[in-house]
Amino acid sequence: MSDTHDPEGTRRDFIYYATAGAGTVAVGAAGWGLVNQMNPSADVRALSSIRVDVSGVEPGTQLTVKWLGKPVFIRRRTQADIDDARSVPVEQLVDPVDRNANKPGLPATDENRSLDENGEWLVMMGVCTHLGCVPIGDGAGDFGGWFCPCHGSHYDTSGRIRKGPAPENLPVPIAEFLDETTIKLG
Ligand code: FES
Repeated sequence: MSDTHDPEGTRRDFIYYATAGAGTVAVGAAGWGLVNQMNPSADVRALSSIRVDVSGVEPGTQLTVKWLGKPVFIRRRTQADIDDARSVPVEQLVDPVDRNANKPGLPATDENRSLDENGEWLVMMGVCTHLGCVPIGDGAGDFGGWFCPCHGSHYDTSGRIRKGPAPENLPVPIAEFLDETTIKLG
């Protein structure tokens, strides 16, 4: 939760700030200039990490940012979403593995997938695990989470596959809170 550690690493990060209202990711001109001067390996390293300002994300809404060329869903869940996700026994799940890069190989409980202990924040790659379409959010599908219209995969409020051809839960990328309103991806 601290933003004081690893100042060198922080400076190297390629910083994006996104606002929920605009639904876009802003890239500073200085950032592009910096990248242009870097050698390829430094470029790749810098792009592998971004920061997202989530201060404008209200409960019950989702911010989508582009990272490593793919959409990332950052959802601030309501208490009902959280209760729903946490009431499902793991035995009922199609994919019993959490698919969380921060805690790999654990059971797919909502506690193992959400970013914070209370479960208010859920961060996932917005890429269907069937054939890669971008699922629709905002409570879509039969389980109140996300729905992939390409071939009909339904994900629950924890992003776990519950019905349809997708084989795995939506993957949770490496992510952490740097402070109360900033999430770092990668
Ligand atoms: S790509 Fe999502 S259901 Fe096929």
